[in-house]
Amino acid sequence: MDGAEYVTGIDDLPIRDELRGKTPYGAPQLDVPVRLNTNENPYPLPEPLVARIAERVAEAARHLNRYPDRDATELRTELAAYLTRTAGYEVTRANVWAANGSNEVIQQLLQTFGGPGRTAIGFEPSYSMHSLISRSTGTGWISGPRRDDFTIDVEAAERAIAEQRPDVVFVCSPNNPTGTAVGEETVLRLYEAAQAAKPSLVVVDEAYGEFSHRPSLLPLIEGRPNLVVSRTMSKAFGAAGLRLGYLAAHPAVVDAVQLVRLPYHLSAVTQATALAALEHTDTLLGYVEQLKAERDRLVTELRATGCEVTDSDANFVQFGRFDDSHAAWQAILDRGVLVRDNGVPGWLRVTAGTPEENDAFLDAVRAIRKENNS
Ligand SMILES: Cc1ncc(COP(=O)(O)O)c(C=O)c1O
Repeated sequence: MDGAEYVTGIDDLPIRDELRGKTPYGAPQLDVPVRLNTNENPYPLPEPLVARIAERVAEAARHLNRYPDRDATELRTELAAYLTRTAGYEVTRANVWAANGSNEVIQQLLQTFGGPGRTAIGFEPSYSMHSLISRSTGTGWISGPRRDDFTIDVEAAERAIAEQRPDVVFVCSPNNPTGTAVGEETVLRLYEAAQAAKPSLVVVDEAYGEFSHRPSLLPLIEGRPNLVVSRTMSKAFGAAGLRLGYLAAHPAVVDAVQLVRLPYHLSAVTQATALAALEHTDTLLGYVEQLKAERDRLVTELRATGCEVTDSDANFVQFGRFDDSHAAWQAILDRGVLVRDNGVPGWLRVTAGTPEENDAFLDAVRAIRKENNS
């Protein structure tokens, strides 16, 4: 007997009240010719890197009877070297922490700095996992404002922070799903507001940092122990399947997340694979340059079709406006191209794919606009 005759669904289980009636996060994984809906990198890892991963994983496999390096020492050292080289500020292993995707980094930060009786704020529309992980860690969520052009209204944001006194402030730059990046000045003002109000932790989510026209906000951690920059290998490194995210901050923040991380959370296989990918940084960043050019082409060509397009610093583009964005999403899907409906009324989001994928997407949009105008 497995109890199935007594338990008919989630609502019959004694789950936490705040999870009742909620649906799990997840973009549709549909089997269509062109998938441009999850901001993945369209380029498979190059063969020499695949071979190097096989070598490093084989070496790790010889020691799988043992737990992995709990502190991911070698990997954090290499991530620090990568940031130092590319983000304009020198960090060491002591500044860096890694986990299974930046979602886990965010979860660990919320477990440490949020939690029951505490709150987090983000400026929406933004990355929905900030609010969802807040909820799952028992952290109250505050939806902060954005302007109609999707930039952050700094005065309004400062007011919201002063009034609500959140424990964690999320600044997503470039922002998902809008593509909007923020400058140093904005982050500094929000940081000051957050310190005056509480003080609280400011998390700058730079998952798409490598695609931006602007420099990384990483140098701002200097002298600001409550500022964290989170990053991922899912996008620029083309390794979404790897599940490797990381943060850079004052070493005290790295010490603090040790209080909540599971022992041996990062498998030896993950660490070996990430190290192999970091050896091929230059090749992978070459793909980033191609994707930036394709992103810019998408912006230009979408505008030429008459669409409104939000300026993008990421590997995706937000476009509209549609009277019925879900119907537009479906019409594009009917032409074999999957884009993302993030629930922002009037807008959809498309990830920059290969030139061929982007052409297929642009053809679909042109066809729809022609139909609608005829
Ligand atoms: C803004 C932002 N942050 C974080 C993530 C999480 O990335 P991962 O957990 O794959 O590192 C994503 C993924 O789409 C994202 O868009």
